[in-house]
This record gives sequence, structure tokens and C-alpha cells, in this order.
Amino acid sequence: MMSVITVQFVKMVTANMLLSVFFVSGALAPCPYNPDLFITAPKQMEALSGSCLRIPCHFRAKPDEKFKNPRKTFGVWIKNSKYFAPNHKNVIFNSSWEHIFYPMKITGDLSQKNCTTLFSSLITNHTDTYFFRIENRPFLATASCDPLQITVRGSAPSPRIEISGDLKEKESVTISCSASTPCPHSPPKLTWNLQQDPPNNIEENTDRTFTTKIQKTITLSDTHDGFTISCSATYPVNEGREVKTAEERKTLSVSYAPKDTSVSISPSGLVSAGSWVNLTCSSRAKPPASFSWFKNSKDGAISVAEGKFYSVNVTGVTEDYHCVVTNVLGNQRSSWISLKSAESSDSSLIWASALGGVIIIIIIIICLAVCVCSLMSTRRCKTKHPNPQQPQSQGAEVLEVPGSWDVVRNQF
Ligand SMILES: *[C@@H]1O[C@H](CO)[C@@H](O)[C@H](O)[C@H]1NC(C)=O
Ligand SMILES: *[C@@H]1O[C@H](CO)[C@@H](O)[C@H](O)[C@H]1NC(C)=O
Ligand SMILES: *[C@@H]1O[C@H](CO)[C@@H](O)[C@H](O)[C@H]1NC(C)=O
Ligand SMILES: *[C@@H]1O[C@H](CO)[C@@H](O)[C@H](O)[C@H]1NC(C)=O
Ligand SMILES: *[C@@H]1O[C@H](CO)[C@@H](O)[C@H](O)[C@H]1NC(C)=O
Repeated sequence: MMSVITVQFVKMVTANMLLSVFFVSGALAPCPYNPDLFITAPKQMEALSGSCLRIPCHFRAKPDEKFKNPRKTFGVWIKNSKYFAPNHKNVIFNSSWEHIFYPMKITGDLSQKNCTTLFSSLITNHTDTYFFRIENRPFLATASCDPLQITVRGSAPSPRIEISGDLKEKESVTISCSASTPCPHSPPKLTWNLQQDPPNNIEENTDRTFTTKIQKTITLSDTHDGFTISCSATYPVNEGREVKTAEERKTLSVSYAPKDTSVSISPSGLVSAGSWVNLTCSSRAKPPASFSWFKNSKDGAISVAEGKFYSVNVTGVTEDYHCVVTNVLGNQRSSWISLKSAESSDSSLIWASALGGVIIIIIIIICLAVCVCSLMSTRRCKTKHPNPQQPQSQGAEVLEVPGSWDVVRNQF
């Protein structure tokens, strides 16, 4: 008696130490019973009505010497959320029974301490707490500290979409969709909008339950940002006569360096020199980018301002600007934008007008010559034609609308 009390005391102290070390809550509090049987099985399992549930199970007895005749071992399942002592009401399965009263079958080899059980034709009423018991007279023990909570749901469980790695452009990520597979005999079929007929793989988890999985590796780009992955799991039920489906969606949020950087000018129409012009830098970037403005000078580009907008007082000289957009993933530069003032346009305007005048005079001469020639052609015209060479193409490029300043975009 003394030794028992001492053992209990030591147990309690150990438990308390564990509690204080790991700050565990009541969920992991020591079981108040002192059973001679333990099972290794999931604590909670979810299943789908109309389907089956495979319960991976392994047991061990304490002390081992009491459990000597493995061949005459009976496995028993007891159903009750409160009482795990066997009586005729709550014993739902006994491996010695010839008739099956409950749709259960121990598929594991009990002599190998394998109590793996298949629970089939589930209905939501089967939701309960179950205890495993071993009978091998004189050894009789219930694993009262290892309750198994089974929840049978009427609708299919949603699959899970998981993405490994950072959601950044150029990053290669593996996207997977997985569905719990309580009944590996009739697993769900997974489909998604990332590929046609994806190969379904059934994987065993560390707790010996199963998961059906599909996966695909993709290299991300900015076009994936905002894309919604939708994955559905279709479970066959009632011997495959019906199916139950559940869907999961996940929208990708992909970060990317600035794209499509450009500068727009307001007002875009005619502006006289000495007035303000607003430059706006536009770009797509995630996360949002910061903007800087640079002006071209003899010594190269010099920083002139920060921010999306930049106001410039149009002066007498031509000035080139560009903006640079930066976020954590990189930066992008817009093309140069030239602001040409009315004054600087004026000088070229004089040349343009002069050239225009010359062209008009040449055209008049040609016309006159042609007219005279055609008049004389009936009278066997033999005069030489004037030289038709003229800087037509050159003139068209230089010609400008008087009084305007213009903007030239140079692609670098
Ligand atoms: C299980 O079956 C065996 C053999 O028929 C029997 O001895 C035992 O009492 C049964 N156990 C329970 C809990 O019904
Ligand atoms: C237990 O038995 C099942 C058959 O129902 C088998 O699939 C499983 O691998 C066995 N487990 C171990 C640990 O041997
Ligand atoms: C499920 O349980 C309810 C009451 O708990 C009962 O009325 C119903 O008939 C049961 N359904 C089946 C299919 O056993
Ligand atoms: C713009 O510059 C001109 C001279 O180039 C100056 O007269 C004018 O006041 C400036 N405008 C503003 C709003 O500062
Ligand atoms: C430029 O923007 C400022 C405010 O940002 C505004 O007050 C001004 O009218 C704008 N000028 C032009 C020419 O658009």
C-alpha cells in the first residue's frame, strides 16, 4: 500500500512538473484511470456518412506478462461517451462474434498487436466516443485513457490548398490541394483549375491515416497575382452510387517589381511658356512602390523630386525628365520625357517657316513648268524640265504648329 501511494505521488509530481514545463491545459491532463491497456490511434477522426473509416490502431498491454496467449485474443469496441466498462448495451463489436451487428471489422492482426479497424456504412448517428478493449483471459483490459472521438459528417470535408515558398515573381512554388481520406478504399477525386486531370496521389500520414493530394510547381509572375485557385474533392458514397463534393478556393497575392512605368503630362494640350505642367508617374507594383524624378543634365541624371506627381515650370530651355519606381523587389525607369518650351520651339519655327516658304516656291515653279510644258507639248515642246529634286521628306519632319511647345518621347 505504501509503495502504491509513493508511486502515485511520484506520478503526480512528474505530471505537475510536465504541466508547469509545457504549460499544458486541461486537455492533456493525466487520465484519472490506471488501465492495463493503451492504444496508439488518432484521438479524433472525421468521416463522411455513406463512406467508411479506417482506424489505424496499435495496442500495448501493461504489464506484458499478463498477456500470454495472443491466438485467443478478442478485440472489442465499446461505444459510449461516458461509460467504458463493458455491458451488453455499449459493446458494439466483439471480434469473436459471428454476426456483425455494427458495420465494423478488425482488419489488423491482433496477435501482432495491430487493432486496425474498418468502420463501414457510416451514418451521422455513429458519431460518438469509442474505446478499444482486449480480452485474453485472464487478461481483460479497456484502453480507458485512449478514447477515440469519431465524428460522422453529412457533407464532404473541404480540401486544403497549400502553397510552399514566398509568393513573389520569378519564385518557383509548389501548390498542393489535399483532402482527408478517411476511407482509403474509396478515396476522393481531386480536380482543380491549374491543370486537367491531375494525377491523384494517396499518401500515408505519420499517424497512419491517409491523404489524397494533387500538386503542381509553377514559376510565379505578376500575371498570377489575383488568380483564384479552386480545388474540389469528390467523395464516392453509398458504394459509389452517389458522390459528395466540397470545394476550396484560394486567391494568390503575388509580389512583383514595378512594371509598365510611364509618365503622363497634364495638361496635354497647348501650354504657353512660364506656366506649370504636371508630370504623373504611373506603374504597377506590389507592394506599392515609391517614385523619384530625375532631370537630365551635363553630369547625368540628377534627382529632383520624390512622389508620384511632379510639377514643372516650363522654361526657355529643353529639359528631359524621367521617373524611377522602386519597391522591395526592384525598380523600373520610365523613358525620358522632353519638355520643350515655346521659346525653344520658336527658333526652330523660324527655320521651319523659311524651309516651308522655299518648298512652296519650288512647287509653284514646278507647276508653272508643267503647265507651260503641257501647253507647248501639242506644239512639240522641247524645253528642259526643271530639276525635280526637293527636300520634301526633310521639310515634313521639321514643320511645326506655331505657338506650341511639344513633347518628344525617346525610347532608351
Ligand atoms: C467477446 O466474445 C468472447 C467470446 O465469445 C466472450 O468471452 C467475451 O465475453 C465477449 N466480450 C464482451 C465484452 O462482450
Ligand atoms: C495493421 O494492419 C493493417 C491491415 O488492416 C495494415 O495495413 C497495417 O500496415 C498494419 N500495421 C502495422 C503497423 O503493421
Ligand atoms: C439516429 O438517431 C436518432 C435519434 O438520436 C433516431 O431518431 C434516428 O432514427 C437514428 N437514425 C438512424 C438511421 O439510425
Ligand atoms: C515660372 O517661371 C517664370 C520664369 O521662368 C516665372 O516668371 C513664374 O513666376 C514661374 N511661375 C511660378 C508659379 O513660379
Ligand atoms: C498641377 O497639380 C496641382 C496640384 O497637384 C494643381 O493645383 C494644378 O492646377 C495642376 N496644374 C495643371 C496645369 O494641371
